[in-house]
Amino acid sequence: MKDLIWIFGYGSIIWKTDFPFISESTGYLNGWIRRFWQASPDHRGTPEAPGRVATLLPSRTGGCWGKLFLLEADVQNQVLVNLDYREKGGYQRMLVDVATPSGESVKAVTYWGSQQNEHFLGPKPTLEMARQINDASGPSGSNRDYLFQLEAALQQLEHPDRHVTLLANKTRGLMRR
Ligand code: SIN
Repeated sequence: MKDLIWIFGYGSIIWKTDFPFISESTGYLNGWIRRFWQASPDHRGTPEAPGRVATLLPSRTGGCWGKLFLLEADVQNQVLVNLDYREKGGYQRMLVDVATPSGESVKAVTYWGSQQNEHFLGPKPTLEMARQINDASGPSGSNRDYLFQLEAALQQLEHPDRHVTLLANKTRGLMRR
């Protein structure tokens, strides 16, 4: 029998899950934090005016809440091929240990934009990141929509992320001007 594969999503994969799965769960990835430090030249921006989307940064003290999806055995290879294409803007697959609410740990594939990838932007002051997000838009929609959908999805999971909330509040402030 084929080993079943879990996917761990911490960004758009949480709320834009465009693949079939047999079960889902909240998951916690210890030792990594979510940051809007990855450029999006292909989904939420353009090569000339890239957006800012989420990636994972190693952290000695933090962790990241997201969602686990268990893939169906007979489509898992195709799902991975499709996700590789969707996440091609600098992300690579990484195998991680994710804790489930029941205290189990599962091995999962996550898509990570390392600090070495060509689209890694790194940190900027919150206002500067919010301005970039407020202005950017690409083939998958506005960068604001990505940020607000992620904020809402994390609230729904009952695990809001301070970094995401701060950025969303700052971006809403710019919209009211
Ligand atoms: C993810 O959602 O887990 C990866 C980053 C993204 O596509 O937003």
